[in-house]
Order: sequence, then C-alpha cells, then structure tokens
Amino acid sequence: MSTGIIPPLGLGTFRLKGEPLMGSIHKALDLGYRHIDTAQMYENEETVGAAVDAHGLPREEIFLTTKIWHDRLRHDDLLESLQQSVNRLRSDYVDLALIHWPSPNDEVPMEEYIGALVEAKQQGLAKHVGVSNFTVAQLEQARALPGGDQLITNQVEVHPFLTNRKVVEAIRKQGMTVTAYMPLAVGKVMEDATLKEIAARHDASPAQVVLAWLHQQEAVVIPSSTKEAHLKANLQALDLTLSDDDVRAIESLDRGERIADPDFSPRWD
Ligand SMILES: NC(=O)c1ccc[n+]([C@@H]2O[C@H](COP(=O)([O-])OP(=O)(O)OC[C@H]3O[C@@H](n4cnc5c(N)ncnc54)[C@H](OP(=O)(O)O)[C@@H]3O)[C@@H](O)[C@H]2O)c1
Repeated sequence: MSTGIIPPLGLGTFRLKGEPLMGSIHKALDLGYRHIDTAQMYENEETVGAAVDAHGLPREEIFLTTKIWHDRLRHDDLLESLQQSVNRLRSDYVDLALIHWPSPNDEVPMEEYIGALVEAKQQGLAKHVGVSNFTVAQLEQARALPGGDQLITNQVEVHPFLTNRKVVEAIRKQGMTVTAYMPLAVGKVMEDATLKEIAARHDASPAQVVLAWLHQQEAVVIPSSTKEAHLKANLQALDLTLSDDDVRAIESLDRGERIADPDFSPRWD
C-alpha cells in the first residue's frame, strides 16, 4: 500500500497566480500545511517556487507535486519539461510528478510516457510518481507496464456531487492512494442544504464536512483557498468525525456532476 506517502491535506493552486498565490502559500505554510499541488499548465510553478523559497522552511519539509501537461508526453520532452518544472520550483526534485492527463487518443503510447516518468524517478527528478485523470482501464493498463507498480496515486475529481465510485474503487484495488481534486466542487458544496444541515449538527461548515468525509475514506484532499480562515478550517476538518448516517447522506448527493471535462478527456467510467 502506498497510503501515507502523500500528506493527507495539500494546498491546491489551480487558477492562482502572483500575489494571491504567494499570500495563500505563506498563510498555509504558517498554519502548518506541508503539501502544495501545482502543474505545468497552471503557469504558476515559478511563483510556487518563489513563495516556498521566501518562506524559508527547509525544502525537505515540504511535499511538492507537479503535473506534466499532455503536450510533453514524448520520452525526451517529458524528462526535459520535468527538469524545467523543477528549475522553476527552485528545487532539485519534486516529491511527486504526475501525468496530468492520459495522452489524448493515445497519440503518445502509454508505455512511452509511463516509461519516461519512471526514468525521471530513477534520475531523482521525482521522489514519487503517479497519474491523474486516468480511467479504470487506463489505470489497469498503466499498472501492468514495466515500472507501473511504482505509480502511487491517481488524482481525480471527487466531491459529493461526483463520488466517482468506479475509479475510486479501482485505485484502492490497486493498493494506490486516491487524491481528490476539486473536493469542494469549486465552492458549490457551501450551497447544499443537506451538507449545511450535517455541518450545523457538527458545528462545522459544509466544506469541513466534505473534507472530513474524504479524509475518513483515506483520500488525500487538495482544496485551494486564498483566505486564512478557510485555510485554517480546511486543516481542522481532518479532526472531524462523521457518523455512518452522515456518510450515507453525503453519498446520496452524487449526481454525476463533473466539473473538469475538457474536450481531450478520456471516455469516463
Ligand atoms: N489533476 C487535475 O486535472 C486537476 C483539476 C482541477 C483541480 N486540480 C487541483 O485541485 C485543487 C482544488 O481544486 P479547485 O481549486 O479547482 O477547487 P476546490 O478546492 O474544490 O474549491 C476552491 C474554492 O472553494 C473555496 N473554499 C476553499 N475552502 C473553503 C472553505 N473552508 N469555506 C468556503 N469556501 C472555501 C475557495 O474560495 P476562497 O479562496 O474564498 O476560500 C475556492 O473558490 C486545484 O487547486 C488543483 O491544485 C487538479
């Protein structure tokens, strides 16, 4: 089992750049966050690197994840682009390098880019490797490839409105860690009546209830926030315990509502 390698709560950075991102990272690190999730596509790796550097914590105390974009999946491109990411992050390595999306229409064979990713790990560019947005079939295919047993996570969209059961179960069956992205459905969980009711009973917020629900099922969560109060609340959510009835009520909210669904997405399960 790879559970335990990735800190259970990370700071998401999608859509954030410049000063708001700097502020978010500094507040989060001050509060005790030690895991930051970025990607080549977010065009903010330089700011993440600068923020971590300026904060002054030893590099080895922070778990940094980046993701390789789907136009850099050819063997040499992948290694070169990951080196560039590492440079932008002002480091010698990332803690976790993910394939951001499977190659659209298998333009690059999976064997080529999973092979290159495993090579990146052997070279020390990434301490750990994994994938993101892989379907059940793609995950099984990846795991069967040489070095595929080294993939520790599949980072996928999971929140109460898209519980994504099939892929979540497939990740667990592989002994891998589920990383839940957009865990708050980009803020929509705050509006839901059922979540508000559960939250009121626990003297918590709907966001906290959702993060606790994911944490309780051993999923890593990576919510983003620019507000200190929200960053703090999200960290404290890991201490909240939900009842079986709460869990059933949360899971009844699943309506297959997918937020991240670009035209190059794989055929979802
Ligand atoms: N692998 C992929 O393809 C992929 C795709 C999408 C996202 N991701 C990763 O997942 C991360 C999370 O997704 P996301 O940022 O899109 O959405 P999210 O984390 O589900 O939601 C973020 C939104 O929720 C609000 N929020 C955060 N904490 C809150 C709280 N305690 N109470 C009320 N509102 C709260 C934030 O606003 P405030 O700033 O006002 O708090 C922000 O608007 C991304 O940042 C990125 O790192 C990965």
